[in-house]
Amino acid sequence: MEKRTEPAASPLLLAMRGIVKTFGRSVAVDGIDLDVPERAFLTLLGPSGCGKTTVLRMIAGFETPNAGEMRLDNTPLADVPPERRPVNTVFQSYALFPHLTVNDNVAFSLKLRGGVADIAVRVRRALDAVHMADFGQRYPHQLSGGQQQRVAVARSIIAEPRLLLLDEPLSALDRKMRGHLQIELKALQRRLGIAFVYVTHDQEEAFALSDIVVVMNKGRIAQKADPQTIYNRPADSFVADFIGNSTLVEGRVLERRGDAATIETALGAITAPAAEGLAAGDAAMLVIRPELLSTRGEGEATFTGSVSNCVFQGERSMIQAEVAGVPLRFAAETPYAVGTPVALWLDASRSFITRIAA
Ligand SMILES: Nc1ncnc2c1ncn2[C@@H]1O[C@H](COP(=O)(O)OP(=O)(O)OP(=O)(O)O)[C@@H](O)[C@H]1O
Ligand SMILES: [Mg+2]
Repeated sequence: MEKRTEPAASPLLLAMRGIVKTFGRSVAVDGIDLDVPERAFLTLLGPSGCGKTTVLRMIAGFETPNAGEMRLDNTPLADVPPERRPVNTVFQSYALFPHLTVNDNVAFSLKLRGGVADIAVRVRRALDAVHMADFGQRYPHQLSGGQQQRVAVARSIIAEPRLLLLDEPLSALDRKMRGHLQIELKALQRRLGIAFVYVTHDQEEAFALSDIVVVMNKGRIAQKADPQTIYNRPADSFVADFIGNSTLVEGRVLERRGDAATIETALGAITAPAAEGLAAGDAAMLVIRPELLSTRGEGEATFTGSVSNCVFQGERSMIQAEVAGVPLRFAAETPYAVGTPVALWLDASRSFITRIAA
């Protein structure tokens, strides 16, 4: 695993404090604090309707918060109209002008601004950055979805924004194209040194790209951390459930000892690292990630049960086994028939006891 640069060490580019946005009686964003350091790749991750797009639209200036303050370079944004913010947006749908060539699409904002001398050079440079320099004369309908989205990115970086907002830019593309463009976007972001605020509901994409992942739930921030912390130490059961294929087992904390706790569950008493602040008597959730369950181990198996479901995924199969009424999910190299008895060994030292989400 590559070593990540510590994002907190960079100076702050954008600070959001106590931001609230309501639409009529519905609360889309419910009091969030968010810091975007310079050069950071920050991802807003969460289910449909949790407020991700609304956050982006407030940063861009298309929506006005009902409460709270936003500062960019420590300057309040409240009175700065969208076109004066050093911010650009790439949307999910490519949103290119169909009647303009690629070159003219990319040049559009500079032409609109006027007084920019070296437009052709800058268009060329922006298209080069997304490997589309040979496509300048084409029209959008002559491009694939992935190529159109590359042009949309070129168009958004040509004015050299400080901050680029990307709202599910790859979600319309097939898996392979998405993988390619993820790598390109990450490389581009590093090269340009622009901060990206990226929106997705795909946790793999969030982990692959981000320095900081912000998991949102119903207009609030559930957790803000580097991908490994989000994965290994989810702040609550909502985050744990949203990330990956973990089995969540509710229980009660019997004992707390330093970083670890023992939790009583339907699966028995299990000792594992635990979230800060959880104490004896608290209701809590044991998070068992699939890779912590093995069908081979030393000594007595942790659990025995029988297979209740199996999903073939190609390089592996996702198996579900019933143990004391709990459906435990684990990965195996080959599919299992339903009803097969299984013995499972749990590496409890790498599982996690977390809070139950409000
Ligand atoms: N203009 C609007 N008028 C009324 N309600 C709105 C408006 N925009 C957003 N909302 C509501 O605010 C909430 C948050 O919406 P938002 O678009 O930010 O979610 P999202 O996280 O981007 O979801 P998705 O993943 O589906 O794009 C939703 O309940 C949505 O219905
Ligand atoms: Mg959205």
